[in-house]
Amino acid sequence: MKQMKFAAIILAAGKGNRMCSDIPKQYMNLCGNPVIYYSLKAFEKSAVDEIVLVAGADDVEFCQEEIVNRYEIKKVRAVVAGGAERYLSVYEGLKAASDADYVLVHDGARPMIDEESIDLSMKMVPLEKACVLATMVKDTIKVVNESGYAVDTPRRNSLWAVQTPQSFDRELLVEAYSRFFNEQSKGGELPIITDDAMLVEQMTNKKVKILPGKYSNIKITTPEDLEIAKMFLKK
Ligand code: CTP
Ligand code: MG
Repeated sequence: MKQMKFAAIILAAGKGNRMCSDIPKQYMNLCGNPVIYYSLKAFEKSAVDEIVLVAGADDVEFCQEEIVNRYEIKKVRAVVAGGAERYLSVYEGLKAASDADYVLVHDGARPMIDEESIDLSMKMVPLEKACVLATMVKDTIKVVNESGYAVDTPRRNSLWAVQTPQSFDRELLVEAYSRFFNEQSKGGELPIITDDAMLVEQMTNKKVKILPGKYSNIKITTPEDLEIAKMFLKK
């Protein structure tokens, strides 16, 4: 049987606007290392075959030298420039992982990703073709209208907060993208794509499987998230 090939696409091409910091959050110091180091390290230690790092166009060289070479992350096959939106960055990563059977798309801003969650994703994606880690939301979520009034309260036990890695059969994700770009070129009304699973849900018939994630796998988004990550790392 042919050996299956897994590629991790690690995203670090965002601007980090909500962090309100001088340097992009993926390069901020977290317990002595840049935030992005932790997810690279986690995938380096995992069973994935290779890593594609997606950086901002101006940071490709910096990432190669100061992160990948300096920390000796050997599985990195390429550092490529991302795009203006997250899904465009994913697409650039996808092109660089062109011979993988499965891709695990991970936010470089989630340094707390653990081995067990990566293993679970790698075990399930060949069976499910599209799966994402998620946790049940703890807060009640309200739908709010433009005037600031609550208009709906979805049942909490049907709501899950999705994380990364989001894992796909590479060909399925490529197909979702090509349909999306095709629709876009026709000028049709399109959803705002906030994650890759959404693209698969909307552009293909494949249902996305939810895998149990961990509450510790937080995304560094605002300054207090860095404090929370420090707490986890010190444990
Ligand atoms: N990302 C990316 N390319 C983009 C936008 C986001 O690679 N054009 C990456 C970010 O670097 C991050 C992950 O996607 O690792 C999750 O995005 P988010 O937390 O929204 O990061 P930013 O877009 O950088 O932050 P903000 O939305 O606050 O500007
Ligand atoms: Mg963003």
